[in-house]
Amino acid sequence: MPFTYRSTHVIATLSAVAALLLSPSRAANPSQCQDIVLTVSASGDNVVVPPLPSNATTPAAVNDFLGTATANLALNKSQIESGTFNISARYCPALSRCGGQKEVIELLVHGGSYTKDYWSGGGFTNTSFNGDPYSWIKYASERNYATLSIDELGNGNSSHPDPAQDVQPLLETECIHSVVEQLKAGQIGNTAYSEVLFIGHSFGSQNLARLTQNHPTDPAGLILTGYSDDFSGNIPLQVNFGYLPGDLVSPRFADLPGGYLAMSNRTGRSVAFYYNGSYDPIIPVLDFETEGTVAIGEPFGNILKPVPQYTGPVLLVSGDHDAVVCGTGHDCLTAPGGLTNSTVARTSSFFPNAASFAYNLANSSGHSINFHYSSQQTFGYIHDWIDAKFGGGGGSNGTCPKNSNTTTTNSPTTTPSTLVAATGSAAINVVNFGAMAAGLLVFLL
Ligand SMILES: *[C@@H]1O[C@H](CO)[C@@H](O)[C@H](O)[C@H]1NC(C)=O
Ligand SMILES: *[C@@H]1O[C@H](CO)[C@@H](O)[C@H](O)[C@H]1NC(C)=O
Ligand SMILES: *[C@@H]1O[C@H](CO)[C@@H](O)[C@H](O)[C@H]1NC(C)=O
Ligand SMILES: *[C@@H]1O[C@H](CO)[C@@H](O)[C@H](O)[C@H]1NC(C)=O
Ligand SMILES: *[C@@H]1O[C@H](CO)[C@@H](O)[C@H](O)[C@H]1NC(C)=O
Ligand SMILES: *[C@@H]1O[C@H](CO)[C@@H](O)[C@H](O)[C@H]1NC(C)=O
Ligand SMILES: *[C@@H]1O[C@H](CO)[C@@H](O)[C@H](O)[C@H]1NC(C)=O
Ligand SMILES: *[C@@H]1O[C@H](CO)[C@@H](O)[C@H](O)[C@H]1NC(C)=O
Ligand SMILES: *[C@@H]1O[C@H](CO)[C@@H](O)[C@H](O)[C@H]1NC(C)=O
Ligand SMILES: *[C@@H]1O[C@H](CO)[C@@H](O)[C@H](O)[C@H]1NC(C)=O
Ligand SMILES: *[C@@H]1O[C@H](CO)[C@@H](O)[C@H](O)[C@H]1NC(C)=O
Repeated sequence: MPFTYRSTHVIATLSAVAALLLSPSRAANPSQCQDIVLTVSASGDNVVVPPLPSNATTPAAVNDFLGTATANLALNKSQIESGTFNISARYCPALSRCGGQKEVIELLVHGGSYTKDYWSGGGFTNTSFNGDPYSWIKYASERNYATLSIDELGNGNSSHPDPAQDVQPLLETECIHSVVEQLKAGQIGNTAYSEVLFIGHSFGSQNLARLTQNHPTDPAGLILTGYSDDFSGNIPLQVNFGYLPGDLVSPRFADLPGGYLAMSNRTGRSVAFYYNGSYDPIIPVLDFETEGTVAIGEPFGNILKPVPQYTGPVLLVSGDHDAVVCGTGHDCLTAPGGLTNSTVARTSSFFPNAASFAYNLANSSGHSINFHYSSQQTFGYIHDWIDAKFGGGGGSNGTCPKNSNTTTTNSPTTTPSTLVAATGSAAINVVNFGAMAAGLLVFLL
């Protein structure tokens, strides 16, 4: 059944590119990057979720509401939600051409309460802060990989439909599926990307794993960060996030319906996402100031399940002291039975038919691995794995030279008009809701 929705958020368009590139705080974006809008048509068999009660105006009341998610799922009521949406994306083509046998692109999907800026060193507005060491996309450019980082449906500058009925994992993943089809069809950057590497953080990893269940050949490789088979560590932490309707937290969310939540407790966020001083202390401050939203539909339909359908390679990297995904001990290094018994190691059982399963821990890191001092080492480790499996970026046959110095000047090397915002429509795949009930409901992100 079609639905109506409000689109109240500012949508970035190509005309916003100039502003993006002129802002000094965007140095963490290599200069060839462009913000684009992709049109997707998608459909999902979503959970029927009640709206956030209008009197839920305190963190306790919001938590009480979120606490009904498990009981709500047990009602086993679903409805098909479909529509055409804008997905805001940041596209960075590979800097050099060499070889030419494969076209590889990294598709980057942020975690809950973040946006695509998670991959751009945070996109923080503080101009004295140098985000370059924390910019995944800058690092990937130096290794000659193209990237497309997106705002998930209902997040960042993408469309904001009904936060309860529409912004749920199944519909979000079908939107990403449409983006993958556009990448493969050459509708983005005039390049047909035959090998799309899925790279997620946290809820983004969960969504990419979910997408792979339903479309097993979409990814050429699956790289999951801030992920494991056990997010239970987050349950006691999220109580201190201080979730409130976003408009009560920041004027940035004034135009959004109340079902778009934001965190009101900076300390609570930091405790969950950061590890013991292993980060620039200004980062959690800026991170909180620029936080994104969580739509109430996101936790209500978030089921964690194995991905036996997938037969490609998997790499899992989470922080060694990730409080969210290391289980009740909040620490993968000190897990009972040692590292090889940690949640990260044992998540191999989620991918029983994968060609390979590799895992490692980001050093001295909490959940948001991109924002710790070890970020460059972690980016390097992951790209070494990608090089070994996919032979270098930039249409490379494995002999592509690295770009040791990507420029971060503010002038674009390509004009926005060379890139056409793609309009595409995915084959609409309605996922069987009944099959979801077997998984574990993950209360949060
Ligand atoms: C969203 O768009 C606004 C206005 O163009 C821009 O300032 C902001 O950086 C964008 N955010 C993201 C995550 O793209
Ligand atoms: C909100 O209103 C409903 C019914 O009107 C009531 O049952 C509930 O207790 C109220 N919740 C809060 C937090 O006031
Ligand atoms: C998509 O973006 C265009 C251009 O900004 C806007 O006119 C349209 O309403 C948006 N559609 C949705 C579904 O958000
Ligand atoms: C890779 O491509 C380059 C440029 O086309 C070519 O010179 C080189 O021999 C190729 N290397 C291999 C291993 O095929
Ligand atoms: C901006 O960042 C600098 C250094 O990274 C820090 O010293 C300063 O306190 C920050 N200013 C604000 C207003 O956050
Ligand atoms: C904010 O989070 C901190 C750390 O988790 C917690 O100790 C504190 O009680 C929270 N504050 C509120 C008002 O919830
Ligand atoms: C946190 O860091 C301090 C200083 O490096 C160290 O003494 C302390 O043991 C660390 N705490 C934990 C829980 O690792
Ligand atoms: C491995 O971890 C599980 C779950 O935390 C625990 O029950 C089990 O005792 C651990 N194994 C060893 C050998 O410590
Ligand atoms: C962590 O550090 C060790 C030792 O320096 C290194 O071998 C490993 O690759 C690092 N892990 C990651 C994910 O960077
Ligand atoms: C890269 O840039 C840095 C800083 O500008 C410079 O020190 C270094 O020599 C450059 N490296 C190469 C390979 O050009
Ligand atoms: C949920 O409902 C579907 C039909 O809509 C049914 O196939 C499935 O068995 C039900 N699951 C449970 C656990 O009741």
